[in-house]
Formats: sequence, structure tokens, C-alpha cells
Amino acid sequence: MLVLGIESSCDETGAAIVSDDGRVASDVVQSQVRLHAEYGGVVPELASRDHVKNVTHVVREAMAQANVTWDTVDAVAVTNRPGLVGALLVGVQAAKGIAWGAGKPLVGVDHLVGHLLAVFLRRDGVPSPTPQYPFVALLASGGHTALYRVDAPHAGAIRELGATRDDAAGEAFDKVAKLLGLGYPGGPVIDRLAPRGDPDRIPLIAPMAHTSSLEFSFSGIKTQVAQWVAKNGVPRDEQTTADLCASFQRAVTNVLASKLVAAAAREGVRDVVIGGGVAANSALRARVVALATQREMTAFVPSLASCTDNAAMIAYAGAMRMARGERDAWDLIATSQTALPRATRKGRGER
Ligand code: KG4
Ligand code: ZN
Repeated sequence: MLVLGIESSCDETGAAIVSDDGRVASDVVQSQVRLHAEYGGVVPELASRDHVKNVTHVVREAMAQANVTWDTVDAVAVTNRPGLVGALLVGVQAAKGIAWGAGKPLVGVDHLVGHLLAVFLRRDGVPSPTPQYPFVALLASGGHTALYRVDAPHAGAIRELGATRDDAAGEAFDKVAKLLGLGYPGGPVIDRLAPRGDPDRIPLIAPMAHTSSLEFSFSGIKTQVAQWVAKNGVPRDEQTTADLCASFQRAVTNVLASKLVAAAAREGVRDVVIGGGVAANSALRARVVALATQREMTAFVPSLASCTDNAAMIAYAGAMRMARGERDAWDLIATSQTALPRATRKGRGER
């Protein structure tokens, strides 16, 4: 089964052709990063307008690169939640038009489910090992940071185990980079500078680091950096910037990786997975693999292109819905809320 996926929930317009075994025939991403960079974050109105401009182009390009016609595509999958509503609407309306015009079934996909299943994508024909269900996954992106138990590839079989109480991890990377005058998005630039720094020179602490709770908190560490900058000014020398990046990155990635492994141990699960833009972080990837190995677990880390927003993960998650016989109708709506149930405070962490 071949599925056309469309993604427009935030600042990437994407279209991809993916088969239900995870093979990526094409994956086109038109990034708006440069458009939003001067504002230090995503401007919703600009995002929607840019999606309108690019959505048809990325779909055509994805079809051309995969060398497919409407005859060979079996379904259209589109991100319909969560995200910026004006941005989501562009993809949803385009998908409805395409599905109607081409006479294909339509499925809406929760963006978070896409990130959680991105590890199943196979790019460049390379067969990579994939996790066994059930697995425990860390989803860390610009808008979300949470741990999930994934029993099967659909929203009804995914349970949140704990989430951030305040900022998402990616948001913390972006805000700290902004404080240090490093531009937007912050994750890739901090990732690049951190290896040149000394993580012990300027100690920073990620709150709630104790693994008895599966909740996270990242606003405090951002405040620690803000207070350091208020006292010392934005560092002018490269070494101090790198030292702050190294300290921040180590604190955040350690807490993410250790809670992922603690959650898997608590659930009695041996396979751990990461997903979302922050899963592209080299320190996090290394730490997750190291900690999982120590605990005799297996870590599954998606390729970099599968971590940040893309339509291939949406097409794959859509194929999983199709395989269950699920279809959406013309009343498919765009909403900023995820379909995944939030863990109750009692259910998160301390048991
Ligand atoms: O998943 P994503 O592309 O979009 C959302 O759904 O939010 O994630 C974007 C986030 C941004 O906050 C960005 O700074 C972060 O992922 N990110 C990284 C890295 N690459 C992207 N964070 C840390 N290290 C990276 N290498
Ligand atoms: Zn995302």
C-alpha cells in the first residue's frame, strides 16, 4: 500500500510517498526556518501563508520523485492535530481536495503519533532493525516533551507515562540559544557548539532530574541561563558560549535519557525509542544508546531526517490507520489538541 502524506502543522510544509512497510519512496520538506529566524520563533500567520504557497508544489514534487501516479497511490494521510490551526488547515484542505479529486480514501494523523512511529521509516532502501511492540518512547520536540508506552501503531494503543510540566525540551534549546544570541532554531546550533565546551565550568541543573518521577521541567534551566546572562552579559568569547551550551545540553539530555530508560524499566519493556526534533541531538542519541545498553535494553534511534518534522512519518502512521480499516470523511477537522490522552498527575511518576 502506497500512501501520500501531507504535513503542515508548524513551520515545515511536507509531502511524502511511503509504503506500509515503512519504505520511503520520496520525502519532500520545504522548511520555513529562514522566514521565522528574524523573529526568534514561528510566526503563525507567516507560517500559514507560506504553507499556502508551497503545499501544491511539495505534493507534485513528492509524486515526481517517487515516480508515482494517482493510479498507484492508495490513500492520502494528513496531519490534522496538534499544531497551529491556520497551518494545519492548509494541509487538511489540500488533502481533502486531492483525496476527493483522485477518488482516494483520506485519513487524519496525529502529529505526535507520526513522531512516535518515525523509527519505522526505511530510507534509501536500507533495512534497519525496528523495535518490537510494546516499546517506550521519548518524544521531544519544539512543542512537546513526554514519555509514552506504545503497544501498537495507533493512537488508542499509546499511553502517556509522563510529560513536561512547563516548556518542551526543544523550546528550552530555542530559548537558551536566543539568550546567547545564537539565532533560531537553537537545537542544531547548541548541538554544534557543545562539543567544544567544558560542561563543568558553568554548572546548570535540569529540575526534576530524579527518576522516581516521569515528569520533566525545563523552564528552570532556561531561567538559570537568563540569570547568568543578566549578571555576566551575553558571552562575547566563543569558549564561554560553548561552555554554556555544553552544560545546558548535558543537563537536558541526561534527564531525558535517564527518564526514558527508567520508564521502560518500570513498564517492564526492553525496547526504547526516541522521536521529535530534539531526537536529532547527537548527545541525546549517544546517551540513550549508552544507558539502554547498560540496562540490557535496545535503543532505536531514527535517522536525522525522520526526527524533525516530515511528511513521511505522517504517511506511515496513516498507512497504519488504513491497515486497521479506519477512514475519515469530509468532516475531518484541524485542531490544536492531540488525540493522545494526557497522563493524570497521579499516573505520572511517583507510584
Ligand atoms: O519535531 P520538530 O521538527 O517540530 C515540532 O514538532 O516541534 O522539532 C523542532 C525542535 C526545535 O525546538 C529545534 O530546536 C529542535 O527540535 N532540534 C534540536 C536539534 N535539531 C532540532 N534540538 C537539539 N538538538 C538538535 N540537533
Ligand atoms: Zn514535530
